[in-house]
Amino acid sequence: MKLWGGRFETGPSEVFERFSESLSFDRRLIEADIAGSQAFARALESVGVLSAAERAQIVEAFAAILEQAAGPAFYDGAADEDVHTLVIRKLKERAGAVADKIHTGRSRNEQVSLDTRLWVRAEIRRAQALVVELMAALVDLAARYPDAVIPGYTHMRRAQAVLWPHYLLAYFEMLARDWERFEQTYARADVMPLGSGALAGSGFPFDREAIARDLGFSAITRNSMDVAGDRDFLLDFLHAASVAMLHLSRLAEDWILYSSEEFGWLDLADGVTSGSSLMPQKKNPDSLELIRGKCGRVFGALTSLFVTMKGLPMTYNRDMQEDKQPLFEAADQLRGALEMARVVVETAELKPETPLAATERSWVVATDLAEALARAGTPFHQAHQLVGRLVRESVRQGRQPSDWTTDELARFAPEFTPDMARLLAPEHGLKTREILGGTGPQSVARALKEAAARVESLRSR
Ligand code: ARG
Repeated sequence: MKLWGGRFETGPSEVFERFSESLSFDRRLIEADIAGSQAFARALESVGVLSAAERAQIVEAFAAILEQAAGPAFYDGAADEDVHTLVIRKLKERAGAVADKIHTGRSRNEQVSLDTRLWVRAEIRRAQALVVELMAALVDLAARYPDAVIPGYTHMRRAQAVLWPHYLLAYFEMLARDWERFEQTYARADVMPLGSGALAGSGFPFDREAIARDLGFSAITRNSMDVAGDRDFLLDFLHAASVAMLHLSRLAEDWILYSSEEFGWLDLADGVTSGSSLMPQKKNPDSLELIRGKCGRVFGALTSLFVTMKGLPMTYNRDMQEDKQPLFEAADQLRGALEMARVVVETAELKPETPLAATERSWVVATDLAEALARAGTPFHQAHQLVGRLVRESVRQGRQPSDWTTDELARFAPEFTPDMARLLAPEHGLKTREILGGTGPQSVARALKEAAARVESLRSR
């Protein structure tokens, strides 16, 4: 079926029909399309286009169609241009002539905007719930090893000792921002476009605020031309999804390294790793590699829609139909990756001796020593030079920090007072970092408690 045709002598060519159809993918909008059309039927009643009985008949028929749509064979043989056309055809088949009134004063341009807004709103809530459960898994993993010490890195070189929970809470913060970003994205999508018509505003005096209330929208759009040409709310979603994927990819990269034999800190569960078809000893971190890899598809979706929208003249252009596959693709990959990451985190085990030994073998305590000297009155630049020389001497002699005694330190430089020798053990330096947001044990314990409370408050929203 077509929603147009009077003006044409012939129908579309078979090639053009095949090329331009979107039903094969926009069928995912059917629930939104029907909810929007039911609300629109009520709006048509309120402007006197439909009688109460006609409205009731239409709303009921739509409910039955939605039920059928979940079953098999609903789409068999459907040659409709898009989901909006299909839904109207099904209405016609079920309700008869009254269906001819459903599109009064409505355009598919506003309908597709409405449907994708409804769809993405629901999808955002799903993504947020998955983000929260991943945050919860990080908190649990942190709480399993509250005192574990690991080297923190810059430039992929051991830098300073940090607590394992402090490291995990860094990812917690990224995910907390992702949650917020999705919340902002929700607000952008949560604006009701119906009443905009094709581009100029509907010719029927709909109470747009009432339609918004009916569909649970917080606001209505302010300009009909903007509505027809606007996909910002989808770009916002794709951006939020991309940033979340980026965060997951960094966690994946870290853990691919940390679980390698070279690092040997982290055990990934058998359930999230795979073997090699040839090399019997292999246990590969494929779940993490795929999280990292699927970023390409989500960033690609964002880029794809950017390029589709770039330079489009006002207002609707058929190019915009190309928004849906990237949207669905990104949403699916995001959901999969968030869920996978949660399972990896829930089943991971830290082997705390290995990262602790790594901190002891390297000079991650150098900053602690330099700062202790500065606290005792040595200007920091000189303290930095002095500790730098100590490290150079140690490296030359093949000694580790713990090989130095209090006396030897004092002989190396009189600025080193006896109490400073403690700082040669990384766990003591941590205690000098009890600043809000730092890795001091008390700060981290507090942050961990707060994180657990934040999870609970997000869960109950
Ligand atoms: N299927 C179209 C889309 O997704 C909506 C229909 C509007 N089509 C049109 N020719 N105005 O963009």
